[in-house]
Amino acid sequence: MEKNSTEGIFDEVLEFPDSDVKRRFDRLVGLDSVKDRLTKEALMRLQPSSLENWSQQHFKESLPALRYFQRRPPLFILAGDVGTGKTELAETFGDAVARKAGIPILLHSLSLTARGTGAVGEMTRLISSAFGIVKSQAPSISGSTSASSGQILLIDEADALAQSRESAQMHHEDRAGVNALIRGIDDLAEGQRPVLVVMCTNRLRALDPAVMRRAAATFEFTRPNADQRRIVLRNAFPEYVCSEADLSRVVELTGDCDGTGVGFSFSDITQRLVPSVVLEAFPDRTITSELILSVAAQTKATPAFSEQ
Ligand SMILES: Nc1ncnc2c1ncn2[C@@H]1O[C@H](COP(=O)(O)OP(=O)(O)O)[C@@H](O)[C@H]1O
Ligand SMILES: [Mg+2]
Repeated sequence: MEKNSTEGIFDEVLEFPDSDVKRRFDRLVGLDSVKDRLTKEALMRLQPSSLENWSQQHFKESLPALRYFQRRPPLFILAGDVGTGKTELAETFGDAVARKAGIPILLHSLSLTARGTGAVGEMTRLISSAFGIVKSQAPSISGSTSASSGQILLIDEADALAQSRESAQMHHEDRAGVNALIRGIDDLAEGQRPVLVVMCTNRLRALDPAVMRRAAATFEFTRPNADQRRIVLRNAFPEYVCSEADLSRVVELTGDCDGTGVGFSFSDITQRLVPSVVLEAFPDRTITSELILSVAAQTKATPAFSEQ
């Protein structure tokens, strides 16, 4: 019965903890503050009393500041250039939450570009159903102290939906979709439910202001700096493949060295450079620093995602 009701709405529903997912989360470089913040926000929603207990412990009363946490929309926006870890983090942080809270977390992924807009009314129906399903699986926890499970609703490529309602070329049907999204978020904010809604977008400024305003936090993702590129490269090629000195040359080559203003994105390294190096060498050759350097020199950084 459950399978039927989610069919065609979510890509797949994943349950955490999951050790493969933990490995993916741990491998993400340079995102520690976003990881901490998202995990903390989730724990607060799963155990609302934890914030109150903390306040009592430190101030012997309920801090007035805590009032602002009531009815706070459970919406988080991950925004920034392509290949910077938005989807990867959104898909994996639930595992860290599940381990910390000691309860299962379910991830419901709604990928909007993957399914297209379809027939009139389709987008609105899709959004409403998605929120409805997540809500029904996350009973309100006011009164009791903690939830027995948590839900994450992931809306990836959210610009496909949450485009500004002011935008002139926006079809009436899309507006209805945005309105359904806003209703869904507001509805979740009303009850204390163990739910987090995470939206990813490459184009933050295309998002509807009414959606942006509801975000409890917006995180901007950027391309890796030299130190971060070094870590990702080192994770792929240990010292027996590439010395420290040679790695420094690769780090430099993967920076903004052709004057375009951008260096390699994380995914330019993990999904283009590293596989190309391996495939150049396989099956008859070994990997040398020279090979890595020559492949890096031939690889162009993905152009920055234009806000237009
Ligand atoms: N911060 C990061 N640390 C390490 N690898 C990363 C990081 N961000 C992205 N990657 C690599 O790039 C791939 C694509 O990242 P993804 O999350 O899909 O990017 P996007 O921001 O476009 O959603 C990931 O699967 C991973 O291999
Ligand atoms: Mg993505």
